[in-house]
Amino acid sequence: MLAQELADLGAADIKPTAGGVAFAGPLTLCYRVNLESRIASRVLLRIAEGSYRDEQDVYDAAHAIRWQDWFTPQQRIKVKVSAHHCPLKSLDFVTLRVKDAVCDRFQYARGRRPSVDTHAPDMLIAVYLDSTQCTFYLDTSGEPLFKRGWRKSAGEAPIRENLAAGILRLANWTPDTLLYDPMCGSGTFVVEAALMARRVAPGIGRRFAFEKLLSYDPRPAEALRVELKEREIDGTPGLIHAADHSATALTSIGANLTIAGCSELVTLRQGDARQLLAPAETGLLVTNPPYGQRMGDSESLKAFYPQFGDHLKKHFCNWTVQIFTADMKLPGQLRLAPSRRVPLFNGAIECRLFEFRMVTGSPRKKRADGR
Ligand SMILES: C[S@@+](CC[C@H](N)C(=O)[O-])C[C@H]1O[C@@H](n2cnc3c(N)ncnc32)[C@H](O)[C@@H]1O
Repeated sequence: MLAQELADLGAADIKPTAGGVAFAGPLTLCYRVNLESRIASRVLLRIAEGSYRDEQDVYDAAHAIRWQDWFTPQQRIKVKVSAHHCPLKSLDFVTLRVKDAVCDRFQYARGRRPSVDTHAPDMLIAVYLDSTQCTFYLDTSGEPLFKRGWRKSAGEAPIRENLAAGILRLANWTPDTLLYDPMCGSGTFVVEAALMARRVAPGIGRRFAFEKLLSYDPRPAEALRVELKEREIDGTPGLIHAADHSATALTSIGANLTIAGCSELVTLRQGDARQLLAPAETGLLVTNPPYGQRMGDSESLKAFYPQFGDHLKKHFCNWTVQIFTADMKLPGQLRLAPSRRVPLFNGAIECRLFEFRMVTGSPRKKRADGR
């Protein structure tokens, strides 16, 4: 999904890698991806790479980089090392050596060492080690990109904004299709959908670490912000619907929609997902129901799912239903056969996005005993 999104934003040399997507382009594209990507968590700028066998090689590779061309020693740094198949014993020690190399290089070039701030650094230096290569990146995002600025109220077990946006894209949702989340919680799916409908760039209301780079040119960045603002539209009311049985969830989604500037676009109802009728004859239902591991009581959920499944069969003919859950047994509990299952991770938790195509006489999941 991210590779497709990057292609839409004008990236070149797009290569999906483990846990990310590599791409190429001018620095202005880096600004654009930070402002416009709904799916990425952060954008790292690759500045150097080298081969290594021991910690000293990593130190030397880091020391060879002209850090003074990227930022100043007045800026506070943090080094974050991640590794895959790395033969070195301690990543903490590698982190320390890279920090030393950056400071030593600044001392040599500018007569002053940057200080370290692990909580709110100006510059995050990300180092990735595989079995033989070390690669150095500067984080151009700062706060992760899922922090758009609209979430003031979290509710129970919210999913991340970029995960919700990726799921909407996986579900092929477009703003001219009716969308309904019957267990909306703080409203992540519908707020993200409403922002897409209004063509609001997800990062328009926030700042980024690239603004602290010496190479930062405010003119194209400001021109980009103006272009993105001019692209915004009002959107069509009546197409996005959300509900939850909890009054607290409705207060939370209401507050979030107000901050996002999308209250007009989302119709809210309070009620039980097993009783509320479909808001239209056809549409896309996307939801992230309660799950025993994180919330809710698994006994009451056992009764909930078959009832919710029956309700879908009865009242949601001609709808496509996408359910995001960590519960691999959910289709069996709903007594519905999925037409697609996409593995996804919610943080460290392995999840599935199950798709069910509701048609009249929707195929009931066959029981093992054949009845
Ligand atoms: C995992 S949370 C959804 C989180 C949401 N996706 C978000 O990002 O904030 C599940 C939600 O289902 C709601 N819920 C649980 N049982 C329900 C029911 N029977 N009818 C309607 N809502 C229900 C809970 O109140 C909770 O807000």
